[in-house]
Amino acid sequence: MRPCRHFARLSAATLLFASAASIVAAGEPTIGRRPFGKTPDGTEVDLYTLTNSLGMQTSITNYGGIVVTLKVPDRNGNLDDVVLGYETLDEYLAGSPYFGAIIGRYGNRIGKGRFTLDGQEYVLAQNNGENHLHGGIKGFDKVVWNARGVIDDRGLALVLDYASGDGEEGYPGKLSVTVTYILPADENMLRIQYRATTDKPTVVNLTNHSYFNLAGQGEGDVLAHEMMISADRFTPVDEGLIPTGELRRVAGTPFDFNEPTAIGERIGADDEQLKFGGGYDHNWVLNRGDRPLTLAATVYEPAGGRLMHVLTAEPGIQFYSGNFLDGSNVGKGEKVYQHRFGFCLETQHFPDSPNKPEFPSTVLNPGDEYSSVTVYRFSTR
Ligand code: GLA
Repeated sequence: MRPCRHFARLSAATLLFASAASIVAAGEPTIGRRPFGKTPDGTEVDLYTLTNSLGMQTSITNYGGIVVTLKVPDRNGNLDDVVLGYETLDEYLAGSPYFGAIIGRYGNRIGKGRFTLDGQEYVLAQNNGENHLHGGIKGFDKVVWNARGVIDDRGLALVLDYASGDGEEGYPGKLSVTVTYILPADENMLRIQYRATTDKPTVVNLTNHSYFNLAGQGEGDVLAHEMMISADRFTPVDEGLIPTGELRRVAGTPFDFNEPTAIGERIGADDEQLKFGGGYDHNWVLNRGDRPLTLAATVYEPAGGRLMHVLTAEPGIQFYSGNFLDGSNVGKGEKVYQHRFGFCLETQHFPDSPNKPEFPSTVLNPGDEYSSVTVYRFSTR
């Protein structure tokens, strides 16, 4: 990809989509950039806006690599923002349940905040009860990434780099990470490429924590969304949401989403696993074919007709049904995010893998490259 020529320029087409819901119109793909604010130490942060020729648009900040907006058409061509988030950097700084952020160095939980690698024990923050969650106190969701916009014939990209120091948040090794968000010129999809290298053995599990509501952010709960997850097994958890190690069959349980099923249909079932999660907050073991990218999930919102496909190179996916949302987060357009107003589909290796040798390994060694891809593709029905 060659460097973006129209870097800080907003075209007329981009301006067409400035309002929350507008009608799709074709235009020239563009990347815009504007200041988004400053972190407490004075570092300036930007908001990049990528618009493809179909009118799909996403804005992403280099603070935490957060996807701030994602505007996709419904079946009538109306663009709505389908991710939860805030309008200003200050609101993200004041506290966010990981809205839209890149999660690392280790997405999801590590039991008791400890793991052993090559005979050496590493102690991490216990920031979720007695467990470690989403990379610690200051994970990749709270750091400022170096950013550059790139535009070429294939589309638009925002390339984010971060160098995580040896010992940062307790993890061994200096980790050099690149996360690239790609918006193809004429396809409605967001592709996320993850790459990392290390100078010492370490563990890595990167993901994105976007909360989706395919009816539009703030427009009610997600219980009528129809979810399909291509998985015959999931990893049941204990009360602290740490996997027990079992790979349990979903057949005959509220965890079977092989046929599209409304999220709300069985969420209130009398089921120990649903009680532990306060709803769905579990890792599914994806049925992987031979292809590098597997169809992990589809989600359909019947009222507006938006359909999202999730494809990934990862072995697992965390489906989180927004159980901790309680109306205390007021988001874009003064929308109040009530209980289950968004869901996450976090592609990942399984939680607590550093303590579960039977799970696919999350160890990264010097000389090897961590490389993963996830695609969120949008259409209508
Ligand atoms: C992940 C976890 C949930 C919750 C959210 C953030 O999805 O699995 O338990 O912590 O992040 O609120």
